[in-house]
Amino acid sequence: MEFSDSLIEEFQPSKNLVVLTGAGISAESGVPTFRGEDGLWRKHRAEELATPYAFQTNPKLIWEWYDWRRGIIAKTEPNPGHTAIAEMEQVFPHFSLITQNVDGLHRRAGNTKIIEIHGNLWQTRCVREGKVGEDYRVPLPEIPPKCECGALLRPHVVWFGESLDQEDLARSYRLIEECNLLLVVGTSAVVQPVASFPVEAKRQGAFVVEVNIDSSPISSLVNGSLLGKAGEILPALLGKIKGSWST
Ligand code: OAD
Repeated sequence: MEFSDSLIEEFQPSKNLVVLTGAGISAESGVPTFRGEDGLWRKHRAEELATPYAFQTNPKLIWEWYDWRRGIIAKTEPNPGHTAIAEMEQVFPHFSLITQNVDGLHRRAGNTKIIEIHGNLWQTRCVREGKVGEDYRVPLPEIPPKCECGALLRPHVVWFGESLDQEDLARSYRLIEECNLLLVVGTSAVVQPVASFPVEAKRQGAFVVEVNIDSSPISSLVNGSLLGKAGEILPALLGKIKGSWST
């Protein structure tokens, strides 16, 4: 796989690297993307299910849908794209990861400096007390699950019409402001506010590289566009970067 020397030169160890990922990074693990051909939304009309209104109206249905998604994800493993990003955390002293994915695969691959900006589908939240807990059981023994206080639990994820966690958002904006190298992987870059992060990073002078199997709305603005599968490009890219440091 060919990468230009000028692109590889941007990945100096002194750089403040932020990686931003979307569903495309998990596609090769077998997690369906949202808007691709296998999109969960197409088959199951997720845009109608992933709303607070749908949960209020039919919590059982929404939990059955999450239980099904959790079942798919439980059978998957991090792929070489996740592993390469986990290794980037080890080799770049200034590294952060912002992911839109709720599948937890980055954590399983070993990333720790991570903001899960749309939440995590292995976490639950009490609708009355707001208490967050973890539940990895598949399938769930009781649907919908309940808190010890008797109230309903909901998935600790961000739904349509809901605000992102303000602390996560503020931290993400800070990271985007401070980074001088942004690697954007496998996102259609259409869901705000995350879709604005590459634009903002570029505006602040960062070098922005995109890895995507297809072109996206940000392809025309980035400094480098790498077309192909994240699970193939990222390990090759990291290999070249490390090779350039040792010469
Ligand atoms: P999408 O499903 O919208 O986009 C997935 C992107 O990954 C597309 O641009 C694909 O071309 C690309 N892609 C697919 N396979 C790939 C591969 N093997 N390697 C590289 N790229 C690949 O998913 P997101 O952009 O993550 O939010 O969607 C953003 C948000 O929309 C989600 O987090 C979700 C949804 O609303 C919430 O649930 C709040």
